[in-house]
Amino acid sequence: MSGFAIDWLNLREPADARARNAAMLAAFAAALPAAPKIIDLGSGTGSTAHTISAAVPNARWTLIDHDPALLTEARRRLPDATVREADLATDIETVLAEDADAITASALFDLVAEDWIARFAQAAKGRIVYAALSYDGLEAWHPPREDDAAVARAFNTHQRGDKGFGPACGPLGASKLAQALEAEGYTVALAPSPWRLTRQTDTALMDALATGVASAAGEAGVNATAWFTARQSATTCEIGHLDLLAVRSR
Ligand SMILES: C[S@@+](CC[C@H](N)C(=O)[O-])C[C@H]1O[C@@H](n2cnc3c(N)ncnc32)[C@H](O)[C@@H]1O
Repeated sequence: MSGFAIDWLNLREPADARARNAAMLAAFAAALPAAPKIIDLGSGTGSTAHTISAAVPNARWTLIDHDPALLTEARRRLPDATVREADLATDIETVLAEDADAITASALFDLVAEDWIARFAQAAKGRIVYAALSYDGLEAWHPPREDDAAVARAFNTHQRGDKGFGPACGPLGASKLAQALEAEGYTVALAPSPWRLTRQTDTALMDALATGVASAAGEAGVNATAWFTARQSATTCEIGHLDLLAVRSR
């Protein structure tokens, strides 16, 4: 199990909501039929359904995750949703056999492997795909430091490790998904959705992020202790993400 803590998901939820590309969310909502059925993959605590419910007010949600603790919290937050435990690595075809108008995911496609993306794209079978907040490899901390590039490189190497789906696409997740969906006849759009964090509003998230980046860089062979110490007083931080919307065109 990948082990995403509720605390981490709660911490990132407001930054995710701010970062989500507004024009792409509006385009997704406009593409949906009335009262759409939506399957959210890797739902965690239900953040996607919770955040975009105002844009898609009459949606009937099915939330899928493999972590029972996160799903318990999702049931509490979204009592009207159908919530189901499944391992997407093995069961994506079964999960997507369910009737639905659209498939959503947030912060998932950087965790998955390229061959899994091909399986996903086939199993999507023409339904609308809205995959938000895939990490794209950009990290920009302020004030800048000489070791930023080495730490970011090590972090991005770590992002490509196995997260339960085989070797992860990491920063290439959104572009690999775009290619796979285009090969299935979809028209695909990508749009930026960066976190723009400031010390004034996002101290806890910036600190947790610096901890995670330094620890991942360490596991990838770069000692980021000095970088981590300096980042306790970073004033801003931008983390790049991409949102994707895909609609079948033929
Ligand atoms: C980065 S979190 C994002 C959670 C949620 N979409 C959000 O935006 O807050 C990735 C989610 O994918 C789930 N996940 C990872 N591997 C999975 C797998 N093999 N099967 C099902 N869910 C998985 C995790 O449990 C976690 O909830």
